[in-house]
Amino acid sequence: MKIKTILTGLATTAAILAASTHVDARNPKLRANNIDAIIKTMTLEEKVDLIVGARMYHQDPDAAPHIKESWKVIPGAAGRINPVPRVGIPCVVLSDGPAGCGILPVEGEENYFCTHFPIETLLASTWDVDLVRNVGQVIGNEAKEYGVDVLLAPAINIHRHPLCGRNFEYFSEDPLLTGKMAVAYVDGVQSNDIGTSVKHFAVNNQETNRMNNSAIVSPRALREIYLKAFEIVVKESQPWTIMSSYNRINDVYTSESPELLTTILREEWGYKGTVMTDWWGGADGASQMIAGNDMLEPGTKEQAAHIIEGVKNGTLDEAVVDRNVRRILELVVKTPRFKGYKYGNNPDMKAHASVTRQSATEGMVLLKNDNRALPLSSQDKNIALFGVVSYNFFSGGTGSGDINRPYVVSLLDGLKNQNITVDENIKALYQAHNKPQEQGEQKRIGEMPMDTAIIKYAARSNDMAIITLGRISGEYVDRVSSDFFLSETERELVKNVTRIFHAANKKVVVVLNVGGVIETDSWKDMPDAILLSWQAGQEGGNSVADILTGHANPSGKLPMTFPVTLSDHCSSLNFPIDQKIDRRWSVKTGLTHKVKNVDYTLYDEGIYVGYRWFDTQKLQVSYPFGYGLSYTTFEYGKPSVENSQGEVTIRVSVKNTGGKAGKEAVQLYVEAPAGKLDKPVHELKAFGKTRLLKPGESQVVTLTIHTDDLASFDEEQNAWVTDGGKYKFVVAASSRDLRGSVTADVSPSVRKVNDVLRMPAAFKK
Ligand code: BGC
Repeated sequence: MKIKTILTGLATTAAILAASTHVDARNPKLRANNIDAIIKTMTLEEKVDLIVGARMYHQDPDAAPHIKESWKVIPGAAGRINPVPRVGIPCVVLSDGPAGCGILPVEGEENYFCTHFPIETLLASTWDVDLVRNVGQVIGNEAKEYGVDVLLAPAINIHRHPLCGRNFEYFSEDPLLTGKMAVAYVDGVQSNDIGTSVKHFAVNNQETNRMNNSAIVSPRALREIYLKAFEIVVKESQPWTIMSSYNRINDVYTSESPELLTTILREEWGYKGTVMTDWWGGADGASQMIAGNDMLEPGTKEQAAHIIEGVKNGTLDEAVVDRNVRRILELVVKTPRFKGYKYGNNPDMKAHASVTRQSATEGMVLLKNDNRALPLSSQDKNIALFGVVSYNFFSGGTGSGDINRPYVVSLLDGLKNQNITVDENIKALYQAHNKPQEQGEQKRIGEMPMDTAIIKYAARSNDMAIITLGRISGEYVDRVSSDFFLSETERELVKNVTRIFHAANKKVVVVLNVGGVIETDSWKDMPDAILLSWQAGQEGGNSVADILTGHANPSGKLPMTFPVTLSDHCSSLNFPIDQKIDRRWSVKTGLTHKVKNVDYTLYDEGIYVGYRWFDTQKLQVSYPFGYGLSYTTFEYGKPSVENSQGEVTIRVSVKNTGGKAGKEAVQLYVEAPAGKLDKPVHELKAFGKTRLLKPGESQVVTLTIHTDDLASFDEEQNAWVTDGGKYKFVVAASSRDLRGSVTADVSPSVRKVNDVLRMPAAFKK
């Protein structure tokens, strides 16, 4: 290179540097390229204002006037980054998540309705990353049009146990399915140039004592099960923010854990974004700063004081505070609000309603369909509709995952919208029963006992019966075992309706409007068909009717196992099942190992979560992971394999052999050769979904695996180890419906990582 060119280059670099560090001392204003210079002009108190955010309609009487002023910006959003107007930092708005944009109504303020989309569990049941990306894109658009900068979603904790109150907000029991769904969701939302907050990092698998519980987990289970989905989404999508969880991992609050938030998240995975706490999470503000938990969203006055005191007494280096403030400002300058985006408060609600209606049908799971009971035929004109929930559908769960939706289409309305006649007398009985409940209000309601004389009348006057069973749960409280099992009244209803209708030669369909797993084994023989509709958003009743009538062909498959009974889950030994200790979420205590499953929870099952446990133990299940029927049938061809340069590619042709157009979710499970570590009998390593195939049509589905992803975590070496040898790659319609396999030789590899997040000595085996 010539000297002149070098000099010109240096001069340009110097000019850029000067511009990026320049601030007008009298009127400093944040720009994308002067963050460090702005930080230099900020007082410690201003930095702490930025770090410690505000919550929904915050009422701190001591707040500065400019902060009080900022509460007027979308007061119903869950939180905000405080503005520092002196240096041009605007207030940045954060809203929940995940089933749409969560802006709550606030008295005296204008009420903005948001579209209620299907719960994440339903989205995962689609096994369709393109669909989930599209839903994310639409949710993100709605959020942006309401002035939101960061959506507090997706939530990606693992379904460790069916009774976790928030499972509906999470995708699956499997980390790969969860991770890939998260990537699609984040890419979709962030394509609008707004942010996401992937939560709750990590191991937030129960609501009982959620702000204090210490999850005692082995490094192997952490790496392979509980951190894996976060690793995938960080590496593939770089979410703008990550939300640390309330709980402790191996006795350390996640928001105070440098091993989690710096060593693993940033150093090992290369995370570049900002970390925020869950609302008032953790305890010590200074430790949170050091750990790399950039923002306390919101934090308490005590936590703010810890930071200020820490800097003043020298235990917290101000450079650490500056590092975190820099990450916050890097987030701020990307937001629509900083860029002056003019939102119209007028998203296309009609278009979004049709997206939720159609997407929901693709995640509904047809569990049973004897003698082609579904779709309804032209003979099925008059329907006796049973179950209180048929008339008051649950669109989603409760707590911060709920949405201020404009309406919910019940199954009653959905059927009527498709000109199906519903028995008026039965309807009148249920509507009288449902009365005390506000229309659209979602809370648990007991099933109504139904007299057999009425059922006999119904069987005489109708062509068939539909029974809806419903469950709702949500943040703060775990489900109890009676949420899993059918109540006596529900059991009687299913038993009597099926007996009486079958005696009249008429069919019965059960619809499950639930947010999580329920018991099905003891009663599934009774009805002719069972449709797991999940909680399908505000258009739920229309989506179910689309499937019942055959306008849509179900293609959902289970993202978790439906066990025979609750105690079949290995984690049932260590989960707060019906534990009557009122330490649900807000009482902060010191670290204690006093009450099992409340103060601490031992993840004794290790990596044996979900099908990894059931399939390895060869336990009978009610419906296996990955299971779901269609109105058509699919035949899998012989798979082929190509193995080169650390990548194994499996191709399989899938043919629609039935009479209706449909889609098939194809799964790839891998059986590893015997090695030093014990392993599940097989693990999901890839999946794909066909396009809509017409009868007779085929499609080749291509599934690719990096051999690195075959590694297990060896705690002795602190390394991801891929054993060398012959691996079996199995294409499957569910984890128990294996359709064909190929083998490939894989070379061994060892990838060392850090020795962190160890279990406390007292719990080590
Ligand atoms: C929940 C988060 C939520 C936050 C803000 C917390 O209680 O755990 O998931 O984003 O509240 O509403």
